[in-house]
Amino acid sequence: MKTRVKVIVPATSANCGPGFDVLGAACNLYNEFTYELTERGFELEVTGEGSERLYASGKNLAFSSFFRLWNEMTDRRYTGLKVTMHNRIPLSRGLGSSSTAIVAGLMAANYLTGSTLTKEQLVNYATEIEGHPDNVAPALLGGFTVSYMAHNRANSLRFIPAHELRFIAAVPSEPLSTARAREAIPETVSHKDAVFNAGRSALLVSALLTGEYKYLPDALEDRLHQPYRMPLITGTQAVFKAAKNVGAYGAIISGAGSTLMAYASPQADCEKIGAAMKLAFEKAGQQAVYHVLKLDTEGARVVDN
Ligand code: HSE
Repeated sequence: MKTRVKVIVPATSANCGPGFDVLGAACNLYNEFTYELTERGFELEVTGEGSERLYASGKNLAFSSFFRLWNEMTDRRYTGLKVTMHNRIPLSRGLGSSSTAIVAGLMAANYLTGSTLTKEQLVNYATEIEGHPDNVAPALLGGFTVSYMAHNRANSLRFIPAHELRFIAAVPSEPLSTARAREAIPETVSHKDAVFNAGRSALLVSALLTGEYKYLPDALEDRLHQPYRMPLITGTQAVFKAAKNVGAYGAIISGAGSTLMAYASPQADCEKIGAAMKLAFEKAGQQAVYHVLKLDTEGARVVDN
């Protein structure tokens, strides 16, 4: 009987500009989780991001997602669960840190109960917990994902772009909660804006699949969420402009923010793009750090077992 598993889960960037609540991409920045069945109650050890504000509780997503699946899959008794996390993904910055906890719990429970569910099935459980699929799907499947709901089920089509890309994530000091960033979006939008976004997100997927990256500057534009969220992230316009000025295809608000992410060719000077974005944030009054990231193509995985 297995009692211990280690899972690593990638950061994710939802929306990818125009694909609000639909598109997502996994990046090569990872949180690591070890789950161990014990006889000592709930225990949590955290190093790295969020270590000062996460504690063991049935409400912690790393525990609740584990039990959501465990209780459905087995009658096996346990008297304790120890979760050890090493977090590299900053919290409340639009890089899918809460999705990593949800996905890790589900992956661990699935593994310890005999690995009977596929990752596609886990996307559905994860979406039920998260509320929208666009972070959990790429976190599980890797690559870019197009996710949608049909008959109350989350479905996700994963794809890998024709050519490599780099993602330059500029992470500002100020966090932004997803709830607040969602409240900023109006209930309804104009038909014109809906058409704009339908066109841009179709163009984005086509450009990525065909490798026609000259379309990316237009394809990354959005009118469904970014214009409403920009005022919540000091410096957004300046950071977008700075990234484009030094060679990025374009930049977007990663997920609900507050990270801003530039898309660039591997041949571009990505360090220069990162430095320009950081400087633009600083000029606007916010400290920032940046990461030059690649696409993660595998998604969450069990390691070291
Ligand atoms: N699609 C979601 C949003 C992602 O933009 O609100 C948040 O995690």
